[in-house]
Amino acid sequence: MTDGPVPGQLRLRLGMAGLGVASTYVLPGAERSPHAELVAAADLRRSALDAFAAKFGGRTYGSIRELCADPEVDVVWIATPNQLHCEHTVMAAEHGKHVICTKPMALDVAECERMCLAAERNGVKLLCGQTYSMSPDIQAMWRVAASGELGRLIAINTWLYTDWLLKPRVAEELDEALGGGVVYRHAPHLIDTVRLLGGGRLRSVRATAGRWMKERPCPGNFSAYLEFEDGTPATIVYNGYGYFDTSELTWGIGNRMYSDDERVRVRRGLRRGEINTEDAKETMRFGAAAADPAGRGSAQDAVKTVGTRAHIGWFGITVASFERGDIRQSPNGLYVYGDEGRREIPVEGGRGVGMLELKEMHEAIVSGAPIIHDGRWGMATLEVGSAIIQSGRERREVMLTHQCALPSEARA
Ligand SMILES: NC(=O)c1ccc[n+]([C@@H]2O[C@H](COP(=O)([O-])OP(=O)(O)OC[C@H]3O[C@@H](n4cnc5c(N)ncnc54)[C@H](O)[C@@H]3O)[C@@H](O)[C@H]2O)c1
Repeated sequence: MTDGPVPGQLRLRLGMAGLGVASTYVLPGAERSPHAELVAAADLRRSALDAFAAKFGGRTYGSIRELCADPEVDVVWIATPNQLHCEHTVMAAEHGKHVICTKPMALDVAECERMCLAAERNGVKLLCGQTYSMSPDIQAMWRVAASGELGRLIAINTWLYTDWLLKPRVAEELDEALGGGVVYRHAPHLIDTVRLLGGGRLRSVRATAGRWMKERPCPGNFSAYLEFEDGTPATIVYNGYGYFDTSELTWGIGNRMYSDDERVRVRRGLRRGEINTEDAKETMRFGAAAADPAGRGSAQDAVKTVGTRAHIGWFGITVASFERGDIRQSPNGLYVYGDEGRREIPVEGGRGVGMLELKEMHEAIVSGAPIIHDGRWGMATLEVGSAIIQSGRERREVMLTHQCALPSEARA
């Protein structure tokens, strides 16, 4: 991907649906994208709309429906809360807009099906993005895997330990029925990564999800064994309680929000009921003025704490194993271990969340290229997340029925 102008092609006119924390990650990348221009946004929060108009000069709306009715918007990026993804995606599609939907795609497979059908019925593209599988290091890992130099894939193991539960959260983020907890919110990163590297079609899931922090009554950890249709195994392990952090094993590179001392302070405050996490969350959203209680000014500041290498190790450690070697993230990109030893492949990154999604959407619209993370892909990833919860509840292996392969034309 280059940052230069797109030769001879129009830039997609992008409208943001929801200007919360997620949009603070997407807006800088969208602003820099050569494939899109930010032209409009919708939110319920006046301060966010005013900030958007001041910063980007675009049109602003108090409802998603008005944004969708804007004739000068080509693509709507859905970044509203999880329980609204289906409604807002269908609304955008019915207005003839292409859609990029942030993760998780929706609350269940039935909602995903409605979203896919709405896109298909209206002849618009649907891309389920903003997952770590679109980061430069995982994309580079996919390229090495697809090159065949190490032979057949034999296993993928990925671990992510974060402070997700300590971060400012609103009620819906802690309510599993509304898509709250780490299985909905963070598992899509790991599932998408594993499915991309393994070709897409998983067969079954055996997993257990835990709810171990009473102040945060939602899934906070899970361990899952996934099996691909050809028998290749993958494990994904997640813990969001904020004790150990995988960045300790990745040269300090990661997406942790709090320092060790801040974690102690925040955990104590949560246990004593002293932190108003709804107010703290507001301080992280786009257009908010105040700093949060732990001293961070915004979600973007939290990203900056990991510096220019934010693309590497953001979401833990992923090791892909092959007949003749292994691949994992390195300080500057990837380590590739083979019969002749270890080499490092540099990976340039940190350009901006969302840029690959916009490029993929642009190529799909302009030249008919396949969307890899399309609606059917997103539905398959969501199905795995649902199976993680079901498998834990029923203490058995869950067979999957909505899996899809990477498009045959997809190129690493
Ligand atoms: N928090 C993150 O770091 C992050 C990162 C990537 C993706 N996401 C995803 O983004 C989505 C939003 O998460 P968030 O953390 O940004 O939440 P948030 O609460 O900070 O943001 C949601 C925004 O949507 C607006 N909104 C809510 N209902 C609306 C409606 N009916 N019409 C118009 N606007 C409405 C809210 O005012 C708010 O500004 C979730 O699906 C989440 O999984 C979050």
